[in-house]
Amino acid sequence: MFNDDHPTNLSGNPHFSDVTRRVVERRQFLRMGSGVAAASFLAGPLSACATLEAIKPPLLGFVGIGASQADTITIAPGYMAQPFVPWGTPLFSEGPGSTWRGDGSESAQDQARQVGDNHDGIHFFPIDGKSSTEGLLVMNHEYTTVVKGQYITLFGPAAAALTSEQVNKAIAAWGCSVIHVRQLPEGEWRVVLDSKYNRRITGATPMKISGPAAGHPLMRTLADPSGTLVLGTLNNCGNGYTPWGTYLTCEENFNNNFGTRLDVKTDTRTVAQKRYGITPGQTPYGWEAHQARFDYKKEPNESNRFGWVVEIDPFDPQSMPIKRTALGRFKHESAAWTLSKDQRVVIYMGDDQADDYIYKFVSDQAYRPGDHAHNRQLLDSGRLYVARFDDGPVQGDFMGTGEWLLLDKQSNPILRDNPQFADQGEVLIHARLAADALGATPMDRPEWVTVHPQTGEVYGTLTNHARRTLVNDANPRAANIYGQIIRWREMGQDASATRFEWDLFVLAGNPTVEGHQGTLKAGSNQINALNTFNSPDGLAFDRFGRLWIETDGNHTGLGPYAQQGNNSLLCADPVTREIRRFMVGPKECEITGITFTPDHRTAFINIQHPGEEGLGASHWPDGGQALPRSATVVIRKNNGGVIGT
Ligand code: FEO
Ligand code: CA
Ligand code: CA
Ligand code: CA
Repeated sequence: MFNDDHPTNLSGNPHFSDVTRRVVERRQFLRMGSGVAAASFLAGPLSACATLEAIKPPLLGFVGIGASQADTITIAPGYMAQPFVPWGTPLFSEGPGSTWRGDGSESAQDQARQVGDNHDGIHFFPIDGKSSTEGLLVMNHEYTTVVKGQYITLFGPAAAALTSEQVNKAIAAWGCSVIHVRQLPEGEWRVVLDSKYNRRITGATPMKISGPAAGHPLMRTLADPSGTLVLGTLNNCGNGYTPWGTYLTCEENFNNNFGTRLDVKTDTRTVAQKRYGITPGQTPYGWEAHQARFDYKKEPNESNRFGWVVEIDPFDPQSMPIKRTALGRFKHESAAWTLSKDQRVVIYMGDDQADDYIYKFVSDQAYRPGDHAHNRQLLDSGRLYVARFDDGPVQGDFMGTGEWLLLDKQSNPILRDNPQFADQGEVLIHARLAADALGATPMDRPEWVTVHPQTGEVYGTLTNHARRTLVNDANPRAANIYGQIIRWREMGQDASATRFEWDLFVLAGNPTVEGHQGTLKAGSNQINALNTFNSPDGLAFDRFGRLWIETDGNHTGLGPYAQQGNNSLLCADPVTREIRRFMVGPKECEITGITFTPDHRTAFINIQHPGEEGLGASHWPDGGQALPRSATVVIRKNNGGVIGT
C-alpha cells in the first residue's frame, strides 16, 4: 500500500530484469514449459532424502478450485474454513474492551485489550512445545485502513475529524496480539479468555533497541536521549519465528507514519529520509497532527527507530519486545530462519519496495538447543548481507549464480572508505544506502521468503513492479503486473555461504491474455486452468514440503486479471511445479500469514482488509450490514486429516 510500488532506489545498480533477460535468452526458458528439465532444480538435494514423507506422491492431494468474486471464503472440497479472532475480539472477560460492540465505538483503552486490526503474519506456538490442540497464536496487525484520509472502519462507518483519542485508538489497533487458544474436543478453536499469556503489543508499547545501532546518535530523540527505548512497533507485516520459541515481527511501511505539518515548502529531508520514502506533508493516518514524534521536522530521528525486526517472547508476558538492529533497517516483509552447517542462525529477509533488495543475516554464535538465555542474544551480533543475482555461468538446472555482499563497515572496503557511513551503526540504520553502494540487485518488490524443510532451498515472492520499463524474455511486459517466485540454493548447501545458485520457480501470469499458453508465465503451468493468479506475497513451506502461496493483488477479475478473482491461497509442488488454488478470500481482501499446528491438522491464515475500498462491497465475516473485519481463518479437513492432502 501507499507508494511501495514507486522506486526510491537511485543507485543505478543493474536491475534483476536485465540479468534475467540475459540468462533466459540462453536457456530459452519460456519454451521449456513445466517439463522435466525445468522441474529438476530440486533433483539433487531431494534424491538424497527420497524416503522422506515430504516427497511421497501426491504432494498435493486436494482438488483445486477456480476463482471466485463472492464475499465469502471458498475452499477446496472436503475442507472447512471458520473465521476466528476478528478485529475487536475481547481477550479479557472483564474491564475495558471486554465486549465487542460492532459499531466502532470502542475507546483507545478498549482497543488496547482487544485483537488489533488488519491481521498479517501469524505463528502458532504449541503451549508445551508439541501440542496441536493448545497454544499461543501470535499475529501482526499491520495498519488500519484509510481511504482518502478517512478511516473506513476503525471508528465506525462515518468518522469525523481525527481527535487525539482517535489517534490513540489507531495506535492501539496496530502492533501484535498474543492469544492463548485451545481446541474443543469437537474440533472448534476458542480463545482462552483472561489467560496470563493474552497480550496486546501496540504502537505505544515500550520496547528496547539492541544490537550495533542501539544508542547511536541517529537513534536518539528528545524523549529518549539514550537511543535505546522506543514506544511501539508499527506496520507489522510478515513475520518469522525462532527455534528457541520467540516471534519475529517485521516493520514494513513505516515511512507512511512520518510527515510534517510545518513549512512544507522547505524540504529538509536527508538523502536517507528520501531513500526510505519519508514524504513531506500530511500522512495518510494523520498522527503527526497530535503527536510530535510523528512529525519528522520536530523529531527527525524517530523514524530511524522503525523499520526493524522485533523479537517478542510470547511465553514471558512481562518481557519487553526487542528491536534487533543487527538485522538492518528497511521495509521488512518477513524473516525466515534456518541454520548453517555449524549451527549459526541464518535469517532471510525481503525489503518490499520496487527496486529494493533481498538480505540475509548470519549470527556470529551458534544456536544451542535448550539454552534460552544464550539464544536470546543471537540476533544481536552477526553479519548482514545483501543479494546480487548474477547471470551465469549457466550450469545444470539453475539459471544463474549470485553473491551475498557483506554490509560491514570495517571489513568491506567499499563501506570502510565511504564517508556516507560513520560507523557500523549507520550502515545498519541506512542499510538501503549501504546496499546501493555495494551493487545489490534491485528486485520486483521482495515480499515473503521461506526455506524448504528438507532441502534448505530458499523461495521468495517478488510481488510485481508495475512501473518497470525494461522489457525482456523472462518479464516480457513493460510493467510486471503479475509478479514471480524466485528460488536459490546456497553453495555447498550451507546457509552461511557467500555464493548461491538461483532459478525462477514461476512467473505468474494469465493464460487468457497475451498468448501465454504453454509457457511458465501462464499463471503457473499448463497442468490446470484454474490456477492463474497475480501478485504472490505470503509464502511458506509446510513441513511436508508443500509451498503455500498467498496473493495480495488485483481482484477485479477484469482485463489481464480475468479469471483470477479475489485474492487466493494456492499450493505448489516444488518438484513438479504444479500449482492448485486451495482457497479464495472475500471481496477486496488479501490473504496473508500462515501457520500450522504440529500435526498439520489445523492451519491458521489471515484475511486482511476485506472491503478495503470503503464502498460497502464486503460485510465479511459477520454478514448483513456489519462492518467488514480482518480476521484469522481456521482451516481444517472435514475428516480431520492433514491440510493439503
Ligand atoms: Fe505488508 Fe509487503 O506487504
Ligand atoms: Ca505482504
Ligand atoms: Ca498488502
Ligand atoms: Ca503485498
